Amino acid sequence: MVKITIDLSAVQKRLQNTLSPRRYQHSLGTAAEAEHLAQHWGVDPQRAYLAGLLHDSAKGQPDEQLLALAKEYHIPIDTWEAAHPDILHGPVAAALLLEQWGVNDPEISEAIALHTVPAFVMSTLAKILYLADKIEPNRKSWPGLDEIRRLAYLDLDQAMEAMLRHSIEFLAQRADDLHPSTKEIWQQYRNKITMPQANGAALLGKSLDNKLGGHSMTDNSAESILQQCVALAQEKKGRDIISLKLRGLTVICDYFLLVSATNTRQAQSICDNIEEKMKENALPPLRIEGYREGSWILLDFGSVVVHIFLEEERQYYDLERMWGDAERVEY
Ligand SMILES: [Fe+2]
Ligand SMILES: [Fe+2]
Repeated sequence: MVKITIDLSAVQKRLQNTLSPRRYQHSLGTAAEAEHLAQHWGVDPQRAYLAGLLHDSAKGQPDEQLLALAKEYHIPIDTWEAAHPDILHGPVAAALLLEQWGVNDPEISEAIALHTVPAFVMSTLAKILYLADKIEPNRKSWPGLDEIRRLAYLDLDQAMEAMLRHSIEFLAQRADDLHPSTKEIWQQYRNKITMPQANGAALLGKSLDNKLGGHSMTDNSAESILQQCVALAQEKKGRDIISLKLRGLTVICDYFLLVSATNTRQAQSICDNIEEKMKENALPPLRIEGYREGSWILLDFGSVVVHIFLEEERQYYDLERMWGDAERVEY
């Protein structure tokens, strides 16, 4: 292990003079979160802290400068990156580590380089930094953030999967905001974390099939899950129920089901009804997010994702407009 001999307080002072106050706060938050995660996962906390401090040290530079630096340091640039030079602040900061900060540590460089566009094969430190950057305490709350915070201390690959899924679901609609490799990388994490479950489900299905003489007890097709969720939302007087068929448009899922509720209590009761009955049907949701706040609750059934919104939230996020190409059905 490379021993860090850097004077951290000197680095902090220099950073404070270079970055905007907000970005400096974010860097401190990322460093603290990375240190904490590193302690949890048995990685050198001091190096994680340093990686967190310096991860955004090249952010905020003009596009031309980032492009010029990337060229100077032989950083490969794809066409998407050429059109979105800000994304290069990760690899550029990594390339400048030694020269500007006296840090000669390939693992820290790798982590900083990958904090903008991650890869499937990443060191534990790189995953820690990637996640710490997104979940540090100064980040504004969004649906799913608490879940990813929880997963980051439970299983780093699951947290990576959830974070990437979130980016695809909620950033990708402004199609241009997402590096094209994100979906493929998400899929790889998805496969990694669902493989044992998929095998388990297949085995379970087999034993059920045997018991039932070859007939499966539950119909777990996306269409069937969708219809069941529609009926369960209607039972609790959910309004403006529509589905968007996303199959073929994204790898995330086959359908979004959007439901409006008048208040948080109704939103929660729709969620409870769907969760309970689907559990009884042996199709429990894989995750539920946003329940406590109740303004945007998400139930993920894998092929179907149900969004229960308060009106204001529904209009603000406007998933219908974002997924304007999707086939839409009103119920
Ligand atoms: Fe960044
Ligand atoms: Fe950052």
